[in-house]
Amino acid sequence: MAARKVKPVSSLTEKEAAKELEQLAQAIAAHDQLYHQEDQPSISDAEYDGLRARNLEIETAFPDLVRPDSPSLRVGAAPSDKFEKIEHEVPMLSLGNAFSDEDVIDFCQRVRRFLGLGEEELAITAEPKIDGLSAALRYEKGQLVQAATRGDGRVGEDITANVRTIKDIPLTLKAKNVPDVIEVRGEVYMSHADFTRLNVRQAEAGKDPFANPRNAAAGSLRQLDSRITASRPLRFFAYAWGAASALPSETQFEVVASFKKWGFATNPLMARCTSVEELLEIYRAIEAQRATLGYDIDGVVYKVDRLDWQERLGFVSRSPRWAIAHKFPAEQASTILEGIDIQVGRTGSLTPVARLKPVTVGGVVVSNATLHNEEELARKDVRLGDTVVVQRAGDVIPQVVSVVLEKRPKGADPFVYPTVCPECGSHAVRELNEKTGKEDVVRRCTGGLICPAQSIERLKHFVSRNALDIEGLGNKQVEAFYKDGLVKSPADIFTLQARDEENLKKLKDREGWGATSVKNLFAAIDDKRTVDFDRLLFGLGIRHIGETTARVLARTYHDLDAFLTAMKTMTSPESEAYQDLIAIDGIGETVADALMGFFQEAHNIEAIEALKAAGLNPSPLEAQDTGSPVAGKTVVFTGSLEKMTRSEAKARAEGLGAKVSGSVSKKTDLLVAGPGAGSKLKKAEELGIETLTEDEWLELVEGA
Ligand code: IVH
Repeated sequence: MAARKVKPVSSLTEKEAAKELEQLAQAIAAHDQLYHQEDQPSISDAEYDGLRARNLEIETAFPDLVRPDSPSLRVGAAPSDKFEKIEHEVPMLSLGNAFSDEDVIDFCQRVRRFLGLGEEELAITAEPKIDGLSAALRYEKGQLVQAATRGDGRVGEDITANVRTIKDIPLTLKAKNVPDVIEVRGEVYMSHADFTRLNVRQAEAGKDPFANPRNAAAGSLRQLDSRITASRPLRFFAYAWGAASALPSETQFEVVASFKKWGFATNPLMARCTSVEELLEIYRAIEAQRATLGYDIDGVVYKVDRLDWQERLGFVSRSPRWAIAHKFPAEQASTILEGIDIQVGRTGSLTPVARLKPVTVGGVVVSNATLHNEEELARKDVRLGDTVVVQRAGDVIPQVVSVVLEKRPKGADPFVYPTVCPECGSHAVRELNEKTGKEDVVRRCTGGLICPAQSIERLKHFVSRNALDIEGLGNKQVEAFYKDGLVKSPADIFTLQARDEENLKKLKDREGWGATSVKNLFAAIDDKRTVDFDRLLFGLGIRHIGETTARVLARTYHDLDAFLTAMKTMTSPESEAYQDLIAIDGIGETVADALMGFFQEAHNIEAIEALKAAGLNPSPLEAQDTGSPVAGKTVVFTGSLEKMTRSEAKARAEGLGAKVSGSVSKKTDLLVAGPGAGSKLKKAEELGIETLTEDEWLELVEGA
């Protein structure tokens, strides 16, 4: 933005004042857009405040010139305010995916097997999967008291004020059978017609159009000024629930029917089926109507109808076992490949990225797409200038699917994959997997710590949303700090403030930073000195340690010191620490090998010690279910069980915070023995371990 001539307000003519107010209104609106919708402010908070102050000063001197679109009329919340965080009482999970009829058949069989159903009827509901954003609405005594976004599934953002402006959402539930507390969940979305109208309005106001209805809904819902949300045509479908003091009935179908009676919009296409054939029929019927529905959907969701069965089925990592999303095939388009860039990830992996002539795929303009890895690129034989087919499905990164060979330009040469890292020049190799004897499909930079790309990517991962989640320290800031040598390792983040205080060249004097944003950043960093241990573990970016594994490890080892002690003694697969590790449910040799590799590198241990020295003291994970008598205990099931299948028993025990093991040892706390129990029962008796019958076990965990 060009620098403004700043004339004292007292010497402005009326014409000059009007002109400047117009420019200010436009400039402030543009900065609001950058800040709120793109999370990418281009000026400091102080400069922004300066613009607003100037606007107000002129308006005070020339009250007749106040514009209808004046920034002062849209006071809203101060732009530096953020949404409050809300922890979900019941986590908001995601859904597993099915891509084919076979996947759906498998899903039904899995459910049947898990519940041990024989010939019994299994009712499953089918309904469109709405392409919007999920929201949780809490009603107490029939009054809407709180609304939250999904966030990371555990913690969302407080959007109560915004949700109150959505016309589809009742503020009061008037029916008789409304429970005292009920959290209704569903999808906020925008219809095609409303989306088109909104974009016309945006264009008239000189603002950028939204790419698709989902982005428009997201941008509208996450407005700090709820008056903007109110002006956006958002809608809501209710399809699920979280915390509830009671439920109006015993099946998915009936509960959603009650939502409708209470005044919510529910999807009219929801159906209840009793066979796979019927489910697939509904799927095809919904797919056939997709283009004429008037809102975006990206598949069909199937849910086990009986709620007691849903409860028994429970969850695997982050998705329910009782539901699945049957996705529509991805949308495709063809375009020209203009270049291939090689990106270096945090583990040194080289990823080829296609630079494309921009093309619209399913309503979104795509100009980059992944080519996955060296092997895939070679297999597809993608060459510069080729016409390629790109596809995009839901939120996933667009991908290059194939080459249209007939359109290959003459003389196009095969792409030569680099064998050195484009960022640091180190050799890039494809490792040999010792177990399979095969070459890894991914080529990796061997530069390790000297490779800046790897360091930057590791730092970005460390502060990312599901790891330390440091507000104000995003990708852009990490890159800038790294380039200037301010932050080279995770520990540097925690010494940033101390170093800044001693330094003459202060952070607050940097471009894009003001005193307030620096203060906020330091506070956000301080706040993470006691980050949850599992988030730290995930943030370290060890190969194969995803969020779920990180949580399992954090629960098992409890705190960082105990974990470090164990890891340092893990010197070979024969070591006790290694054997303990693979005895944990959900942890296999891949993870154990990755951990062993990581902790055998002295610099990795040093990096963690440096974090501790810089004042990082992660909080141990709370026990999963403190209320349960089996939380934290190691349980072994043996013999045949009559009231539940083995997998159900295991899942239930784990859900209550117990560890389920396959063999009896000194560490076993409880043995649940059904008829036909043999050697395990004998061993447990020898070791003096408490044993229970299936009924005694059920009694113990009853109501837990
Ligand atoms: S049920 C425990 N039903 O899909 C499962 N989800 O991938 C709760 N979604 O975050 C979700 N339409 O945003 C359910 N009819 C529907 C849905 C739906 C869209 C979204 C929702 C969720 C995501 C899961």
